[in-house]
Amino acid sequence: FTAEIDASDTEKGTYPHFMLKEIDEQPIVMRKIIQEYQDDNGQLKLDQDIRTAMKDADRIYIIAAGTSYHAGLVGKEFIEKLANIPVEVHVASEFSYNMPLLSEKPLFVFISQSGETADSRAVLVKIKELGHPALTLTNVPGSTLSREANYTMHLHAGPEIAVASTKAYTAQIAVLAILAVDTARVKGLELDFDPLQELAIVANAMEVLTDQKEELEQLARDYFGTTRNAFFIGRSTDYHVAQEAALKLKEISYIQAEGFAGGELKHGTIALIEEGTPVIALTTQENVNYSIRGNVQEVVARGANAMVVSMKGLEQDEDAFVIPHVHELLTPLASVIPMQLLAYYAALHRDCDVDKPRNLAKSVTVE
Ligand code: G6P
Repeated sequence: FTAEIDASDTEKGTYPHFMLKEIDEQPIVMRKIIQEYQDDNGQLKLDQDIRTAMKDADRIYIIAAGTSYHAGLVGKEFIEKLANIPVEVHVASEFSYNMPLLSEKPLFVFISQSGETADSRAVLVKIKELGHPALTLTNVPGSTLSREANYTMHLHAGPEIAVASTKAYTAQIAVLAILAVDTARVKGLELDFDPLQELAIVANAMEVLTDQKEELEQLARDYFGTTRNAFFIGRSTDYHVAQEAALKLKEISYIQAEGFAGGELKHGTIALIEEGTPVIALTTQENVNYSIRGNVQEVVARGANAMVVSMKGLEQDEDAFVIPHVHELLTPLASVIPMQLLAYYAALHRDCDVDKPRNLAKSVTVE
């Protein structure tokens, strides 16, 4: 394999940090994925063996760590809703201790930016011994997880240098959407969703979002200036993004942050809300817009400094930030961008080493 690296990819250029460059590259990555997974007739292009493996599977087991695990949570929704196959998502390091009862025809899907995460590899070794097939989604074809799995799908995100993953996360979600739709088509299911067209809309939305850096820098000052902790809340799809947003903030700014399901707050976590605690609420799904706003009122009543990030069409006047409208299945691809930029500016204002946060490594090759 020759990785798609050219010199400019591994240089910062005019950017102060790789992370900021990689955040900005996300529209380009979306367009690259659209191009790579499309044939000359504008149809989805996927390996025939992957199609057969997906069609034959009676259950998909997604295995991943960190940000890739969060992409897997979104991918589960795509595969279940579009391709009608049950999906379980597992943290790689936990899988071996409590291995679930496997279905008759499982397909394992490993999601890994680096393709080298030892926790995921340990699972791959185990399931190969059991004779189960594996597909790896990775940014590094030729990596260990790619070589040792039966099939590989390339993320086409280009080299990701910053330790905190940004463009690989959105690439993983985009490729999972393509995989889910392709499987649905192979199975002859009727779909009212064209992923290539919708991803093109996402790419444009991402451009609008990455142009709003000044606004997001100010929000980062207002909400994360001196705080020691922060909460991100969301329901349904937004909950997955809330988890990723919290991870991003923790990783690079060292602010203690958690992502919670809006409805679960009242069952314990709300005890932590004090005067001025930042609570960032995401709302991009019509069916939960009302409920999550109720959760915002609950935390505001307890003194929280609440920031609502909504999607066009669901916004209210007092919302701090509104993302452009994208298809409701693909909202994480847009809503995560302001979360990445908020984390970036929070870390920057605290003089943290944005690209190389303490105690973390880009790829973790020990279990
Ligand atoms: C490390 C990185 C994380 C990453 C995780 C999984 O912990 O610091 O940013 O999400 O590994 O990496 P992978 O390469 O498997 O996606």
